[in-house]
Amino acid sequence: MFTDLTRISRVALIPAALFALSNVALAQDSVSGREPVKLDVPFVPTPESVVQRMLELGNVKSGDYVIDLGSGDGRIAIAAAKRGARALGVDIDPRRIEEANANAAKAGVTDRVTFRRENLFETPIKDANVITMYLLTSVNHQLRPRLLEELRPGTRIVSHAFSMGEWEPDVHEKVDNRDVYLWIIPAKVGGRWTLKDGEQAIALDVEQEFQAIEGKATVNGRTVPITNGKLNGDEIVFTLEIAGKPETYQGKVSGGKIEAVAGPVATKRGWSATKG
Ligand SMILES: C[S@@+](CC[C@H](N)C(=O)[O-])C[C@H]1O[C@@H](n2cnc3c(N)ncnc32)[C@H](O)[C@@H]1O
Repeated sequence: MFTDLTRISRVALIPAALFALSNVALAQDSVSGREPVKLDVPFVPTPESVVQRMLELGNVKSGDYVIDLGSGDGRIAIAAAKRGARALGVDIDPRRIEEANANAAKAGVTDRVTFRRENLFETPIKDANVITMYLLTSVNHQLRPRLLEELRPGTRIVSHAFSMGEWEPDVHEKVDNRDVYLWIIPAKVGGRWTLKDGEQAIALDVEQEFQAIEGKATVNGRTVPITNGKLNGDEIVFTLEIAGKPETYQGKVSGGKIEAVAGPVATKRGWSATKG
């Protein structure tokens, strides 16, 4: 009965196809006598197996605050609440909000889940630590700057079917033939840092693109590249060649400081870096 949005997506780049779908929604509205609703994405529910895997990938658990942008019949937000998280679903279509509220009541999770009629482009997102979505690549693209700017480092974003363009996912899986993507919001580390490693002061010029970092370091008057640089939320890992041998640094970023952490790939202890 429902069309698979991934199949639609193959033609979704053809605006006429989506326009036709939006028209279906408009026609149904006029039959029910409601105000027509302009949808940026048609309603197509995520299959249950994919919902569960999305929440596993997002590591959704008690204490989390999950926002599903474009929540449809509420299934993702309700499943998150069943895992003990607090959840908010927003949808612009009032029929979806009615369905979602009825489904939350049936599932017995109304104490942990809320549905709100709202344009997802206007939803405040900064308090979420997990964002889920089944939208379109074009919509993900529009949301991308806000996600990167407003969400805290470490926040997980899980998308069914649609990517974020050149922002590579941290994880990409196939679940029952559907694409599921996970991104972890990286800390902002671009710019100049001074790293102190014992007596040694190393100047770092860090270039950041999403979770990837590169750049150069000046060590004892010699310039070497920053290699294997990666951010996982507020955790940073990179390698420098010191005295002819590679040294891997692993640290935790907090504002303008990086402190060494013990980790599986860290060979250096007791170093720190400050911005500037
Ligand atoms: C593909 S469905 C996904 C539903 C649900 N998240 C799921 O995965 O089962 C997209 C939903 O986004 C809603 N939507 C479309 N444009 C929207 C907008 N601008 N603001 C909020 N919701 C919107 C639609 O009404 C629809 O329910």
